[in-house]
Amino acid sequence: MKIGIIGAGNVANAHAKAIQRVSGIDVAGVYDLDITKAQKIADFSQSKVCTTSMEVYDLVDAVIICTPNHTHFKYVVEALEHEKHILCEKPLATSNEQALEMYHRSLKSSTITALGFNYRFLPIVREIEKLILSDSLGELLWLSISFKRSSALTRKTFTWRDSAQGNSTSGAFGDLGSHLIDLLTYITKTNYELNSLKSRLATYVSHKDNQLVQVDDDARVNGRLENGTYFQINASKTSPIEENGLFIEVHGSKGELQYDSRDRSYYSLKSGLNWDIIPVEENEKNPQEQKREVPGWSSSFVSQIKAWRDRMINQESKTSTMLADFGDGVYVQSVLSQVLAETQYSLLRDKKSEGRLLKNF
Ligand SMILES: NC(=O)c1ccc[n+]([C@@H]2O[C@H](COP(=O)([O-])OP(=O)(O)OC[C@H]3O[C@@H](n4cnc5c(N)ncnc54)[C@H](O)[C@@H]3O)[C@@H](O)[C@H]2O)c1
Repeated sequence: MKIGIIGAGNVANAHAKAIQRVSGIDVAGVYDLDITKAQKIADFSQSKVCTTSMEVYDLVDAVIICTPNHTHFKYVVEALEHEKHILCEKPLATSNEQALEMYHRSLKSSTITALGFNYRFLPIVREIEKLILSDSLGELLWLSISFKRSSALTRKTFTWRDSAQGNSTSGAFGDLGSHLIDLLTYITKTNYELNSLKSRLATYVSHKDNQLVQVDDDARVNGRLENGTYFQINASKTSPIEENGLFIEVHGSKGELQYDSRDRSYYSLKSGLNWDIIPVEENEKNPQEQKREVPGWSSSFVSQIKAWRDRMINQESKTSTMLADFGDGVYVQSVLSQVLAETQYSLLRDKKSEGRLLKNF
């Protein structure tokens, strides 16, 4: 199966490396507005640099769309018109209308369309999903999930992520939080009670390259799921480096679970008075995994590509796979849009707090 990569930045790099670890699938063409970036990934994957997206469709059976959010719509529509299978990066779109249009178009085509919610494939997520499905934690009462990064502090240049062109979907909540919105509904198999959501989004780093940052860099959302479980989400790009990581807490009527990705290889489980330390099993362990990565992050791309390949080649049924599809993308978009539209989005451009946050960098 021949794959095209459209957009050759950070995440494209993770996909290209993952493809090398998967049989039956190879990169054939790479396109990026910036030809030097396309060249780098084409060299790595021994494939062709294309000067237009049309050239990519002529070479491949499927495409991975790794461009900024505000361009996903254009490339998804193009790829569907060329009857190419698609793995589109998250979030699917920049509005509900766009997401629905992409979904309806995908239903009319015979292609397999997947969405890049690769965190579903993290070993810890699989483990929690199993514990919940087996009722080991009992009735779910409260869930907390946080993803903390420092990128708003460390990336000094103004990019598409800082601009409003993605309709705010490239801020901390759209960028990191879209994974978390998906994870909560995925592991609990429950929807959000949309009218219960309470949120606070803030922009602590107000300027980059003397330009105004137009998106949030720290988001907190609380609410209830339709099964009655309360939750909180924190997606942050302004956390001190030593606090970076993925943090999950699940409180059920029979037990509690705590995960801190900085511990790397285990999580804690409490069923009576005592906490047990449980190792997290990794089937696809990447020997070159970076310590700053969430454990299993690079391998989650491998598992995702395998699941996509199996659906494309073997026509594996949709229900037997963890792979997210455009329907999941539409659902996450609806939660994301509601928070972005209704939140008390006050840009906290407090010079003092910016100074405090920037102190360590
Ligand atoms: N699944 C994940 O864990 C994950 C991680 C990072 C990013 N992402 C998603 O991947 C997408 C890209 O993010 P990134 O971090 O790789 O960004 P990036 O800025 O590193 O890369 C984007 C690339 O797209 C190119 N580009 C911009 N506009 C283009 C256009 N119109 N046509 C063709 N190429 C264009 C840029 O030159 C750049 O090389 C985003 O949607 C982001 O949300 C997902």
